[in-house]
Amino acid sequence: MSKNIKIYINNKLYLAQKDQTILDVALKNKIEIPHLCKHPDLDIKGNCRTCIVEVKGLGLVTSCSTEVTEGMQVKTESPAVKRARKMNLELIFAAHIEKCETCVYSDNCLILKYAEKYDLNISHFEDRKKNYPIWQFGDAIQFDASKCIDCRNCVEVCKLRQTCDFYEIADRNIETVVKPKGSPNVGTGLDLSNSVDALGNDINKFDCTYCGQCIVHCPVGAISGVPHWQQVNKLLEGKSAKGGSASGGKVLVAQIAPSIRVSIGEEFNQPPGKIVTGQLAASIKKVGFDYAFDVNMGADLTTYEEARELVHWLTSGKKRPMFTSCCPAWVKFVEFNYPEFISHLTSTNSPIMCSGPVLKTYFADYLKKDPRDIVNVMIAPCTAKKHEAGLAKHTIDLGWCIERLDLPNVACICKDRSKLKGVRVPAVDYVLTTREYAHLLHRHKIDLPKLKPIELDKPLGTYSGAAAIYGASGGVMESALRSADYFLRVLDETGSLDSILKGENYQLKKKKYSNISQSRIKFEEVRGQQGIKSAQVKVGGRQLKVAIANGLGNARKILEDLKAGKVKYDYVEVMACPGGCIGGGGQPVPTNATIRASRAAALYNIDENLPIRTAHENPSVLEIYQKYFHGEECLIEDVLHSKFKTQNREGYTVV
Ligand code: SF4
Ligand code: SF4
Ligand code: SF4
Ligand code: FES
Repeated sequence: MSKNIKIYINNKLYLAQKDQTILDVALKNKIEIPHLCKHPDLDIKGNCRTCIVEVKGLGLVTSCSTEVTEGMQVKTESPAVKRARKMNLELIFAAHIEKCETCVYSDNCLILKYAEKYDLNISHFEDRKKNYPIWQFGDAIQFDASKCIDCRNCVEVCKLRQTCDFYEIADRNIETVVKPKGSPNVGTGLDLSNSVDALGNDINKFDCTYCGQCIVHCPVGAISGVPHWQQVNKLLEGKSAKGGSASGGKVLVAQIAPSIRVSIGEEFNQPPGKIVTGQLAASIKKVGFDYAFDVNMGADLTTYEEARELVHWLTSGKKRPMFTSCCPAWVKFVEFNYPEFISHLTSTNSPIMCSGPVLKTYFADYLKKDPRDIVNVMIAPCTAKKHEAGLAKHTIDLGWCIERLDLPNVACICKDRSKLKGVRVPAVDYVLTTREYAHLLHRHKIDLPKLKPIELDKPLGTYSGAAAIYGASGGVMESALRSADYFLRVLDETGSLDSILKGENYQLKKKKYSNISQSRIKFEEVRGQQGIKSAQVKVGGRQLKVAIANGLGNARKILEDLKAGKVKYDYVEVMACPGGCIGGGGQPVPTNATIRASRAAALYNIDENLPIRTAHENPSVLEIYQKYFHGEECLIEDVLHSKFKTQNREGYTVV
């Protein structure tokens, strides 16, 4: 334990720990000092120089990198500090072209707040990045180099935390250029011939996974998800212009992912972890969608299938471990970097890709609508989902659906069936990040916390506690273990899983099947925010060795240890973002360990308070298995599973 020392900030005494910085102590005591490049997840770089303070005997120093000493006297608002801070912030604006009209950060922009607070002349220095390009990584991430203030947070998080190393820095005197690895010199006017990759790295070994961690660590919104909000806004505005009938006859559906209900409140000055499910449902209706559904229902479908697959894995002698695959950034990481592990990924679709196809078939039939007239908008914490939604394998073949699935109404509406074979409909049309959806609400002047909560729509709004915890690290695994424990008991007692395939519920026959109904709910050993967790868990009477990786750097460690034979696991969960989707690349900024912990605690709270805690008890899930799949394994395989394959570098383009 570090010794307490005394320091004075603005003549007032504060107690501090020896290894704290001035900024740590100030923030802890709610003394505001502007700071941009300092992020608690990352090493201190001292690049932006906005956190300048004056220390007696030392002069002006950066408070994020200066540790406190006994008796230190700090001034945060002296005339010298004010002058230097003003100039440093104005220089920041010279490196950052304001594009506030289209920027989803504009409602919550740190540098605009500083500009107002410190009375900056943001045009004092000439914009020096006027012609810098906007890079696009695959179809998911945009990096606007004309907004970059060169703090290097993105470079660090991508290289050291995610081990993807997709950015490089080219330094030219006082000018720095951050750019995707191996990219040419476009519009910068600088000679970049000595950039890192010109020095010999094989750029084909580096690619973006679309995890978005560079986004949530960028202090000025220079990186973002490829925007979908404008297209969605157009549909919504089209709808209201036509006096209430859906735009072009379309039915607009929004689905909320598990973790956004505990994070979006932050965009409206609510504390992290504030649960706003009912207000979210109300906001979806108020902004103009026809239906508000819950991806949690899709998460229960994922769990049901993944648990069935895990049981198969455990009882068939298949090579272990089985890896989760509901995080598309992790899947891309494996497909690109570790193709030898592709066969270890569960083929079960992610929650949005389970609920999407069900919406475009089952729900279309229920509504008596052509699936092409339903627009499915996901509100997700994730930028990689934008990529996942665009994958050809996640489109559904209309002709096949009508031929194979029990969709009498859709079949009746889509009369000319012969022409429908090969007509493919995306399961998910648009993905809005938490930030994008909040921006949409701000534009429509909808104040989320003030809305009267309403229920999500049925039938795709019913979910279990197992789905609620999907957003926290360990949650996907815990959900699957809850159902796997039950399925293994069914298997041991009845000798087969055929009844599970048909959506039978043994919980309703508690007396007769007492051994089955004693199945386990809580698996606390897989919870928590540590980078790598491993545990021995008892599931259906079997001992399993499991591991959970938080972030791609930790996933790489597990994969390398597996390759080297240093560890053995039966089941491994990987989520690309620290803390899981609660720390996703589409979440509100700032996101840090304290905020992630509050969001995760709220998800476990939702779980604890739900009457149904397991996917296999969700009546909507069981109904889909009973009425829709009729126990046909091949149908389930086609609708809820997909295949993975080796990926080449997708790289970047200039927008
Ligand atoms: S999205 Fe992830 S992988 Fe891609 S550049 Fe950013 S941090 Fe790196
Ligand atoms: S893009 Fe953002 S995080 Fe990266 S160097 Fe520029 S300002 Fe920093
Ligand atoms: S952890 Fe969640 S938010 Fe992050 S990339 Fe994976 S699915 Fe997306
Ligand atoms: S926050 Fe201290 S130098 Fe950037």
